[in-house]
Amino acid sequence: EKGTYPYYMLKEIDEQPLVIRRLIEKYRNEQGELAIDEDIVQAVNEADRLYIVACGTSYHAGLVGKQLIENWAKIPVEVHIASEFSYNMPLLSEKPLFIYISQSGETADSRAVLVRTKELGHKSLTITNVPGSTLSREADYTLLLHAGPEIAVASTKAYTAQIAVLAMLASVAAKAKGIALDVDVTKELGIVANAMETLCDAKHEMEQIAREYLATTRNCFFIGRAVDYYVVLEGALKLKEISYIQAEGFAGGELKHGTIALIENGTPVIALATQEHVNLSIRGNVKEVVARGANPCIISMKGLDMEDDRFVIPAVHPMLTPLVSVVPLQLIAYYAALHRGCDVDKPRNLAKSVTVE
Ligand code: F6R
Repeated sequence: EKGTYPYYMLKEIDEQPLVIRRLIEKYRNEQGELAIDEDIVQAVNEADRLYIVACGTSYHAGLVGKQLIENWAKIPVEVHIASEFSYNMPLLSEKPLFIYISQSGETADSRAVLVRTKELGHKSLTITNVPGSTLSREADYTLLLHAGPEIAVASTKAYTAQIAVLAMLASVAAKAKGIALDVDVTKELGIVANAMETLCDAKHEMEQIAREYLATTRNCFFIGRAVDYYVVLEGALKLKEISYIQAEGFAGGELKHGTIALIENGTPVIALATQEHVNLSIRGNVKEVVARGANPCIISMKGLDMEDDRFVIPAVHPMLTPLVSVVPLQLIAYYAALHRGCDVDKPRNLAKSVTVE
C-alpha cells in the first residue's frame, strides 16, 4: 500500500536506501562476508565473455554492470537490447554466459532471447525482482533483487537494486579469481544507502529544480561522460515516460556532432559530473551549450563540485555513483510530471510488464 504517499513512484524512490541495506543482509554469509551462490560465481568466472540482455531501464542498469564487472572481475561484457539481439545476433564467443536483467522477469523481448540461447546450449543467469517469474524459471540460475513489489510503471528501486546486485557479483567474482580489490563493497554500499537517504530528504530541492527548468519546456537534454553517460540515459527515460517532455541523454562529447543544433534560448540541459577523470571535459561541454543559450543544471558530487553547480550529491565510491546520482534524476522526473498534471504511476501508452515482442 502506498500509505501517505500520493504516488507509488515516490514511495519506491524513498525505499531505495532500505532496499540497498536489505541486499547487504541477503548477500552475506555467516562470517558477515559478501557471498553469492558458488555455482553462479563459477559460471561467471568460467565464461570467456558475459552477454547482458535487457530492455529499457534494466538495459541501463546492465550498462553500469558492464563497467563494474570489467573493472573488478576483468571479464569482457557486452550489453544488448533484447529486441535487437533477437533479430541481429552478434557473433558469440566460445564460452558465453547470458545474464538477463528484468525487474518483472516476464518481458517477452528478453524471454525470446533466452529461449534462443538455451536452444544454442548456452548457460543463463536471470537477475530479477520476481521469484518464480518466467525468466527465473527458465534460466539456469537466478539472483533476486529483494526490492519488494514495484507498482509504479516507471522503474526506480529495481534499477538501483540491479546495479547493487551487479556490483556484489562483480566483487565476489573478482575475489574468487584471486583479484585483490581495494574496495570493501559491503561498506561502500552502506555509504551509498546513507547518501540515498540524504537525497530523499532533499526532495524540496528537486521539486524546485523541476519547477525552474521543466515547468513549460518542450524538451530537455541530459549529458554525462563515462558512467554518468549511462545514468543520464536513465534520467532521460524517466523524464520522458512520465512527464511526456521530450528528453534525450547524450555522451557529453557527442552533442556537438549534431544534436547541439536543437539547443535554443532556455533549453534545459542537465549535466552529471561525478567522475574525476572527466570532470573538466563535461564542464567544457556545458560551456558549449551555454554559449548557444542553454539553461544548464549541473549536478555534481562532493569533492568535484564547482561554483555554479545546481546541486551537489554526497561523495560515494566512484564506481558506485550511479546508485546515488540517479536519485535526483528520478525525483526531478517525478516532480516535473506532478507539476504538469500527469498520472505519475500510470503514464499513457505504457504497461508495467511488456509481455509482447
Ligand atoms: C522504465 C521501465 C521499462 C522497463 C522495461 C523492462 O521505467 O520500467 O523500461 O525497464 O520494460 O522491464 P523488465 O525489467 O521488467 O524486464
